[in-house]
Parts: sequence; C-alpha cells; structure tokens
Amino acid sequence: MPESYQNSPDRIHNAIRQYLEGLYRSGIRQLPRLPDVAPSSVSQEAQQPVGAARVVAKAASLPTDPAAESLNGLDKAAILGGYGHQSGQTAMAMPDQASVASLDTDPRVALDRVRREVTHCTLCHELARTRTQTVFGTGNPKARLCFFGEAPGADEDRQGEPFVGAAGRLLDKIIQACTLKREDVYILNVLKCRPPNNRTPLPEETANCRDFFERQLAIIQPEFICCLGAVASQTLLRTTQSLGRLRGRWHDYQGIRVIVTYHPAYLLRTPEKKRDTWADMKMLMQAMGIELPNR
Ligand code: URA
Ligand code: URA
Repeated sequence: MPESYQNSPDRIHNAIRQYLEGLYRSGIRQLPRLPDVAPSSVSQEAQQPVGAARVVAKAASLPTDPAAESLNGLDKAAILGGYGHQSGQTAMAMPDQASVASLDTDPRVALDRVRREVTHCTLCHELARTRTQTVFGTGNPKARLCFFGEAPGADEDRQGEPFVGAAGRLLDKIIQACTLKREDVYILNVLKCRPPNNRTPLPEETANCRDFFERQLAIIQPEFICCLGAVASQTLLRTTQSLGRLRGRWHDYQGIRVIVTYHPAYLLRTPEKKRDTWADMKMLMQAMGIELPNR
C-alpha cells in the first residue's frame, strides 16, 4: 500500500467510519463526545480508551478491527472518548447529556445506510446476477410491528418494494383488518433478492442476508414481529420446527415478541387456513393493545 494512502485523510475517514459501524452493529448507540481540546494537549494517558468507553467496548467484546487498530492512538482515543475521567488523571469532565453524540439520530438515516449496502451486495452470486433490483423494506422506521416475509417475487423484483403482488394485496387486507395501515408497520423479507423462479431460499442465502435483516430490526426496534410462513419463522428463530408447531404461541427474538402465521401466498392457495391467521392476528392485536371491532 502506498505511503500516501496509508496516512491519507480518506483512509483514516474510512477506518473511523468502519469502526463506528462495527460499534453500531455491536449495539452501541451513544458515545461521549471528546471535549474541544487541542490535540497536542491530550495527555499520554488519554491516548488509551479508558473509563466508561473501555467498559462499553469490553462488554460488547468488540472484535479486533485491523483498520481501527492501525489508527494512531489519538484517533482511537477520540473515537472511544478516551479521556481519563474515571481514572482521574485529567481535568476533563464527564460529558453532560447535551454533549453526548448520538449515532442513531434518525432510524431513517441508519436504514438508508444499510439499504445502500444491500443495493451493492453480491454475496449470493446467482441472485445478484438474476435480480432486477434489491428489495430492502418499506414502512414506518419506528414501527411497533414488523411483518417479516421470505423473499421478493416477480412483482417485488420489478417494483423494488416488498409485498406488492397478489400476496401483498392479501397482506394489505390482513393489515387493514387489524385496523392498521401499511404505513404504520414495517415490511421486510429475509432475502433482499428474488430467487430464480421463486424457489425457496437456500440456507447459504438466508445466512448471507442475516446481517442485513438483523440490522434493519436492530434499527427499527419493533415491539412485535409477525413472521409470514415457514422460511421467515425458521430463519428468524433459528429453528427447524414446522410452522404448525410454531403457531399459536409467543417467541422471542432479541427481546422482541415474535408471532408466526401462514404466508399470504399460502393462504391464497389454502383459503381454509385464513381462519387460523385471523386467530393469530387477534392474539397479536390483543398483545399490542389494539382493539378490534367484532366481526
Ligand atoms: N412473498 C414474500 O415473502 N415477500 C414478498 O415481498 C412478496 C412475496
Ligand atoms: N407451510 C409453509 O411453508 N408456509 C406457510 O405459510 C404454511 C405452511
């Protein structure tokens, strides 16, 4: 690597961004801001992450990031808020609430960052080659409820939005029957690319996409997730149990209450199961405190 790039602002900028995104993926949402202080006046001790920042970094067992490791001590200390307020060697104060920099100012912004990564993803060579476009997700970035589907179909691949085909129209009806609007909830799929001929996603493909949907859910932080069909349910819950066995009870994903029901495409083929899905929705709406009209 040429020396000019090694220490270039671009490289340092990229390394910092990657490091912060790594922290973000580890669940760290806030960092203390380094007080305004000339770099030359930062003491030697202050060049190591100390105090709360070190505790946070440790608790999250951050993997060693070579890019971040190669930052000089001052950059790293700045990122981690490395000033010795807990070990007491410096005069710098604990940051007050107003000076705490938030990494997730707006979930929309955070989601857009993931969306951009998804757009360029080529982890699944076949899907990347055959897709018209990626299908990220849509709806309220602060939704209390996420609907979690399987993968884009032909219509979604064409329009770039999940659940816009026949199954989507049934999902819309289900959402409306719950007295909600599509804009109230967030809708996403396990896979962001259409599998050729709508074949079932391969385990390798769901594994490749896991980081994306997990980050979407971590940003949105819904209270409830409704998995649609076996693939979404088994992927989210990391189980091989059948949909029939998973239905009718609550599951947990990262502290989020999860319910599973039939996939709307399955309901289109098997309308007698709509009754069961309606029972699932009643259970869900009751837990959400949403009253349904008698019908
Ligand atoms: N089926 C899914 O699982 N997701 C979609 O977006 C459309 C159909
Ligand atoms: N089996 C599935 O795979 N999906 C459904 O929605 C129902 C049964």
